[in-house]
Amino acid sequence: MHKTELADLASPITYGRAIPHETFEHLRREAPVYFHQEPDGGTGFWAITRHEDIITISRDPATYSSYRGGTSIEDYSQEDLSLIRFMLLNMDPPQHVKYRRLVSSGFTPVAITYLEPRIRAVTKEILDKVVHEREFDFVTSIAAELPLQVIAELVGIPHEERHQLFAWSNRLIDYDDSGRARSFDDAKMAAMEMWQYANQLAARNQGREGKDLVSVLMNAEVDGEKLNEAEFDAFFLLLIVAGNETTRNLISGGMLALMEHPEELAKLRANPALLPTAVEEMLRWVSPVVCFRRTVTRDTVLRGQQLREGDKVVLFYPSANRDESVFENPGRFDISRFPNEHIAFGIGQHYCLGTSLARLEIRVMFEELLKRLDGLELAGPVERRRSKLVNAIRAMPVRRPPSSR
Ligand code: HEM
Repeated sequence: MHKTELADLASPITYGRAIPHETFEHLRREAPVYFHQEPDGGTGFWAITRHEDIITISRDPATYSSYRGGTSIEDYSQEDLSLIRFMLLNMDPPQHVKYRRLVSSGFTPVAITYLEPRIRAVTKEILDKVVHEREFDFVTSIAAELPLQVIAELVGIPHEERHQLFAWSNRLIDYDDSGRARSFDDAKMAAMEMWQYANQLAARNQGREGKDLVSVLMNAEVDGEKLNEAEFDAFFLLLIVAGNETTRNLISGGMLALMEHPEELAKLRANPALLPTAVEEMLRWVSPVVCFRRTVTRDTVLRGQQLREGDKVVLFYPSANRDESVFENPGRFDISRFPNEHIAFGIGQHYCLGTSLARLEIRVMFEELLKRLDGLELAGPVERRRSKLVNAIRAMPVRRPPSSR
């Protein structure tokens, strides 16, 4: 296989154009455990593109660590590594289990069910603002708002401070035109500013026994010790970014998929009971997270490839979710697909904490969208973001035909 045939999976510019499904299809067939060189002297990584292999790796943290090199495709300096390791996402067992327990009760399906009325009220408020507009940007006006407001409420952030968080969160995952350097410094700056904000919030909340996650984290103990400042800040940042960037892109990408497949949209309109399978199909189709990384802890063999201790393996979820050995007609968007064994939320120890919350937000949003914004159509080109982490739409102009007003 010639390298030139393949999209550069290490470059955010690739994903700024589109998810490279052709490259993934080729790799799944020809080289499912493929060593991908990185330009600019990077170490290179093993690109893992099959559903089964991503599951194997995600379920074996003893061989494939989230802690050693972190979970980002980018390599960190030792200094940065020591900071990001305070984050749940970048921990291995047994530490991971102890920290996950601190917040997991707030995210169980039962705990989340209670949020439905509030999520519906917020959704209606968001849609009420645009219902009289003929043309608007779907991302900023609709898709970004719901996850932001919901996570901010759960975490306990006052209304007037929420959009600043959104700006920081965007800067954390954005890349410049060359797709490199500047963004990393800017992302670090954004993270620092966010940490300062988290500390201020903690200081303001001192002594409170609230149910919001800031209060929960401030009162939490691991092995009899309260969280230190770095641990608290890392939790705060993860909850904000993980809750915002993913769900937003699912809502935008899901809406785009429906607009691009009018026959599926018509099916859903005719039978709204299909919404639960439609939500799962949107998750499979969009795969809001592009990839996470693991580091090999001991020499091992995967699909005949010798992996060495210290090697980087990168799990490409959009590829797993179109794996032809798992999904029939994977390139077809089918809102009634069942079963649908997508792994858009990952799998194993780090299985997404926000799964129930995200599913609820998405379902409620599309229930309300179908009722209120009938006949929505694209009004201009969709602008994608250059991100290796999330399959992201920056702007999506939409309009309603005059007849639907
Ligand atoms: C972990 C995807 C929404 C919080 C993950 C992982 C994936 C993922 C793939 C696995 C990471 C790994 O294996 O290394 C998604 C998608 C979402 C979504 C596709 C929406 C459509 C949310 C929401 C929250 C959230 C709403 C709310 C706070 C987290 C956290 C983790 C995580 C805290 C780390 C869990 C751990 O390390 O144990 N997510 N997520 N996610 N997600 Fe989500």
